[in-house]
Amino acid sequence: MTGRGDDGSRSVDLADLLDLTDVEAAALERLDPMTLGYYAGGAGEERTLRSNRAAWAELDLWHRALVDVSTRSTATSLLGLDLPAPVLVAPTALHRLAHPDGELATARACSDAGVPMVVSSLASTLLEDVVEATSAPVLLQLYVGRHREVAEALVERAERAGCVGIQLTVDTPVWGERHREHRTGFHLPDGVDVVNLRRHSPDVGAPTTGGIGEILGWTVSPTITWDDLSWLCGSTRLPVLTKGVCRPDDARRALDAGAAGVVVSNHGGRQLDGAPATARSLGAVAEVVRDADPAAVVLVDGGVRTGADALRALALGAHAVQLGRPILWGLAVGGQAGVARVLELFTSDLDRTLALAGCASLDDVTADLLDPR
Ligand SMILES: Cc1cc2nc3c(=O)[nH]c(=O)nc-3n(C[C@H](O)[C@H](O)[C@H](O)COP(=O)(O)O)c2cc1C
Repeated sequence: MTGRGDDGSRSVDLADLLDLTDVEAAALERLDPMTLGYYAGGAGEERTLRSNRAAWAELDLWHRALVDVSTRSTATSLLGLDLPAPVLVAPTALHRLAHPDGELATARACSDAGVPMVVSSLASTLLEDVVEATSAPVLLQLYVGRHREVAEALVERAERAGCVGIQLTVDTPVWGERHREHRTGFHLPDGVDVVNLRRHSPDVGAPTTGGIGEILGWTVSPTITWDDLSWLCGSTRLPVLTKGVCRPDDARRALDAGAAGVVVSNHGGRQLDGAPATARSLGAVAEVVRDADPAAVVLVDGGVRTGADALRALALGAHAVQLGRPILWGLAVGGQAGVARVLELFTSDLDRTLALAGCASLDDVTADLLDPR
């Protein structure tokens, strides 16, 4: 059932949304053009953005017949944590553009579902408040930019707040060129800010108020190298995952530098346009990581929208997948309840897909599901 809200937008009955495509369509109807351009857009011609989705669908799933799947589990463990399903919320900036409760709504939905949340350095809510709002594990996504002391301060805050890990984003020597943001005049509306970074602005002589352009300028830096990863791994007791890797040799270097694993990601098609779809880069990366260190973690994100996509990712060697935009669509549609609906749709679809593929647990998800010949 749908009707008209006070603001003229169509209100949505979450029960009518049957998959993540439905949630996206409902969100597109509701979001203002500026937020929509920022959330939905990719870099350049958006080739990688499109191929992220398409490449998962190209992988057939060769199901096993006549397997007893009456008792099933999607449970897994990751970084020493027991999780109900192999899914995390990817770090995405500025949740308060989608809903006034922003990251707090996301964190509460994660709490109910037991799904870990990776909080962006560009979050619009203080990291400490997000951790406080959820009983689920929280990781900090970090950019190491011009001023190492900002990264240092954020890591210290993450450790103190009780975060369980860090994802260091490594695909942003500079920002990708996202035409949609220019066309819609992306800016920070009143009351929405990158509060975690802003807190450290005075320490590095950066503006404490004003537009996002300047703050984004010192958030990332083209001078960042493997030495920075080694430094980070040596300066925190938290496990560090390197987010934004597509090459096996880079994955190997990340482990050599002390990383606990990698996130195969192209930033949702927002950085290098032309980077391979993650469904195409994942397999080779996972193989190298497994050979180098069987305990290391491999996550993947980019266009993951269905249980079948998750199954494909696991069969290619990932330990879990991350959801980016679908979480923002859920927030836009219904705040905490909208994010909860996204997580519920995704995990129940994964459970059904497991059964249909003839797998009773994630241990049964092996490479032959993609090609038994
Ligand atoms: C609006 C938006 C903001 C994002 N912000 C960040 C960020 O602050 N840090 C980061 O490492 N990745 C960021 N990402 C990338 C996501 O973590 C993730 O890699 C990507 O969204 C996955 O693809 P998907 O959106 O197709 O699921 C952002 C993505 C979007 C769409």
